[in-house]
Amino acid sequence: MMGEEVRAEDLEAVKRRIEELRELIRKYDYYYYVLNRPLVSDAEYDELFRELQELEEKYPQFVTPDSPTQRVGAPPAEEFKQVRHAIPMLSLQNCFTEEEFLEWDRRIKRMLGTDKVAYVCEPKLDGLGVELVYENGIFTVGSTRGDGYVGEDVTNNLRTIKQIPLRLLSDEIPPPRLLEVRGEVYMEKDDFKRLNEERARRGEPLFANPRNAAAGSLRQLDPSITAARPLKVFFYALGRIEGYEIRTQEELLTTLPKWGLPVNPLWRKCGTAEEAIRFYHELLKMRDDLPYEADGVVVKVDDFAQREVLGAIARAPRWAIAFKFPAEQKTTKVLDIVVQVGRTGVLTPVAILEPVEVGGATVSRATLHNEDEVKRKDIRIGDWVIVQRAGGVIPEVVAPIPERRTGEEREFRMPDRCPVCGGPVVRPEGEVAHRCTNISCPARIKEAIRHFASRRAADIQGLGEKIVNKLVDSGLVSRISDLYKLTKVDLLRLEGFADKSAENLLREIEKSKGISLARFIFALGIPHVGERLAEILAEHFDSIDDLASASEEDLMRIEGIGPEVAKSIVDFFRNPENRKLIDELKAAGLNPRRAVRAGPLTGKTFVFTGALSSMTREEAKRLVEELGGKVASSVSRKVDYVVVGENPGSKYEKARALGIPTLTEEEFLELVKRG
Ligand code: IVH
Repeated sequence: MMGEEVRAEDLEAVKRRIEELRELIRKYDYYYYVLNRPLVSDAEYDELFRELQELEEKYPQFVTPDSPTQRVGAPPAEEFKQVRHAIPMLSLQNCFTEEEFLEWDRRIKRMLGTDKVAYVCEPKLDGLGVELVYENGIFTVGSTRGDGYVGEDVTNNLRTIKQIPLRLLSDEIPPPRLLEVRGEVYMEKDDFKRLNEERARRGEPLFANPRNAAAGSLRQLDPSITAARPLKVFFYALGRIEGYEIRTQEELLTTLPKWGLPVNPLWRKCGTAEEAIRFYHELLKMRDDLPYEADGVVVKVDDFAQREVLGAIARAPRWAIAFKFPAEQKTTKVLDIVVQVGRTGVLTPVAILEPVEVGGATVSRATLHNEDEVKRKDIRIGDWVIVQRAGGVIPEVVAPIPERRTGEEREFRMPDRCPVCGGPVVRPEGEVAHRCTNISCPARIKEAIRHFASRRAADIQGLGEKIVNKLVDSGLVSRISDLYKLTKVDLLRLEGFADKSAENLLREIEKSKGISLARFIFALGIPHVGERLAEILAEHFDSIDDLASASEEDLMRIEGIGPEVAKSIVDFFRNPENRKLIDELKAAGLNPRRAVRAGPLTGKTFVFTGALSSMTREEAKRLVEELGGKVASSVSRKVDYVVVGENPGSKYEKARALGIPTLTEEEFLELVKRG
């Protein structure tokens, strides 16, 4: 009896010590990760952490999910669960000029019937919007913004971000019963650079910018990958809150840190629109020196009661606006101007630039479009130029800086012979483009094949630029239809192919025979026919032959098709070379039909579990949908088939329990082929 009582007392002491250690570590974490002001040395911290780990190991009954030791360790998930946001996560309206901003300000005041409106200005971070739920101070669920209504459950990934408290601090204010707090997960510029350098060393694909890196890191099925990525977070908005009242943005931004939730310190309360504009300019000046990518200032009405009155339009609240920064520009040097030959034989001058970072990406080349454009902008080889990533995507050379010329610069001249095949180059009357006239110019063929195989066209994975070059240079492929004649023996003769890679490529090529009509039309590379137009055409014509026999008049009756495009399409199909190609592709088995909503799988619902070996989930889904079927994310009685890949999850068990037919990957492919 006595002994047990003593043990119980000991246990009480252990529990107390564990709690004490957690309190300390939480506090030290907050000072270190959020405030950047360490309170203790690393060695001291490590010692406390180890003590906690040891105690928890010895007394597992005391382990709780909010313990600082429990950040990493959740096993990889099979897929993200969906989380519905109790209050939708709206997006923001944008403005780009002071004029537009002042117009917004006037409107706000008109609607509120008062000039007494205070704003809170905050940097607009370019990251990933998230919502975290704290119940009685404990972090329970975290999700991405998703479409604003439903996001993905990334709780276990968010848990690995050291800045995020697993339990809210309560030294100053007790945590509310319920807190849904919203913010931005982001990656700092330096961390992004380091991550990409590491990835380059390991031969992994690089992230285009910090935003993509943050999104890619957070949306990982395996939390241990997220844990290894340098993610950070700032909070700036509320969902629901119960058991505590917050009335203004200012109050929100001063209260969140008391609970241990990081807030970007660069916010400012502004009494007037002019003050807000001043803040915008100050931040714009600091922009390049900020450790993170900021693409503007978010201006919010401070008073929540006023927000209530203003409400929302479409998908954005009236009470906030993103005052965006102009596209980022940098100066760099034009090292050379080279000429690229596209699939239609068009010669495009491309500026080779001294690499610079613009808008979060390294730019080393930029299209100059055509000779006239080069002349118009007067861009010379050796020039210093301003480059810009407009809208954050395609880099362009804005203008030269003539003041920096030394006299060594050279003007660009379009060559009169194709740089690839040496064939004659012409500039047809009335056109801005120069063209190589040799229809079997290898550059044209390579480009045509590369386009045909690209992701949005026939989506033949593994058929990238390098392999296309090899196939064409070796003489194995001289037209698109040759792809469908390739054998394993052919491929094995090429350098760099082994058994497996050859088989993979052949399987990809085989798979492409199931191409949809829209993709097929796009893949042909008809001048002026992009992805969207191809989709429209696929809705109006039953097959490629049907489209090929359309007249210009027929085509112009379709909304969105003008005389130029109609002529281009008719010309394409009039060309005997192109007709021959289509016949060959049909003979190879590519003969898509109009994308009818109804198909052989109409009314059938599929669920996938485990990894497929011949395609990604996304591709499998597309396949089912193209044939009229549906794909669900969880097993219920409404599901017709569960397709079971490698390492299936609990969905497999559930399917068996419910008696729902399961298919192996082969059986699924068989079913799809029959359809
Ligand atoms: S407030 C309804 N504040 O920008 C207001 N958003 O374009 C909701 N963002 O989805 C957002 N910094 O992911 C707010 N200081 C900030 C922000 C911010 C970045 C993101 C957020 C939002 C997107 C809207």
